[in-house]
Amino acid sequence: MRKNIVAGNWKMNTTVPEGVKLAYDVNCALKNAQPKCDVIIAVPFTHLVPVKMHIDTNILGLGAENCADHTKGAFTGEVSAAMVASTGASYVILGHSERRQYYGETAATLKEKVGLALENGLKPIFCVGEVLAQREDGSYFDVIKAQLTDSLFDLSAEDFGKIILAYEPVWAIGTGKTASADQAEEIHAFIRKLVTEKYGKQVAEDTTILYGGSCKPSNAKELFAKPDVDGGLIGGAALKADDFMGIVNAF
Ligand code: PGA
Repeated sequence: MRKNIVAGNWKMNTTVPEGVKLAYDVNCALKNAQPKCDVIIAVPFTHLVPVKMHIDTNILGLGAENCADHTKGAFTGEVSAAMVASTGASYVILGHSERRQYYGETAATLKEKVGLALENGLKPIFCVGEVLAQREDGSYFDVIKAQLTDSLFDLSAEDFGKIILAYEPVWAIGTGKTASADQAEEIHAFIRKLVTEKYGKQVAEDTTILYGGSCKPSNAKELFAKPDVDGGLIGGAALKADDFMGIVNAF
């Protein structure tokens, strides 16, 4: 049975004290809420250890927003999957459109990162999604298929089963412009069909596919009601405990 998940992606926001407070507030709210989904926060590298010390990771999962595509050594400024895992984090976001767009991450780089994350026991939250021009010219199905095929579809079924997918149309990220629930469902169902073709029905049924892009308390319910939308990857609305909990409570 696949899991419903709401995951926060803090991006490059909050200082360490601010982040610790936010995480602590979310953790407290979750203790009282008995959520009907798993909840995860992905935080900046600097925040992993202090946040871990202030939350109960049995009720609030912890992840990084990225990891390196090499194991160790002379890569100044990089943080390896092993380093992330050693903080006690369990998840890592990979393939976010901002990493692809601003830091030149390619399908091949991401394939390396996914492999290293899995080797170190981290669960990747792997993002795919089209830019506006690809939505408008109708090539978005091919774009998403290539993103999945080129970075993930060489994995064994066992390893693929550890991946959480996130569909994030780039035109909806941070723009206030959400994909409609029908638009999201169309792609989520398409992704599940691709996974079925590659790994079979059971693996596809068990794969969690999150929607990301201007998801907020007011639209989460409609999105999460769709049969193939298993939760959300939340940027802006994850930076306020109340908003984030509003989305968690949409389940
Ligand atoms: P947003 O970001 O919710 O601010 O649109 C989502 C994401 O980039 O993961």
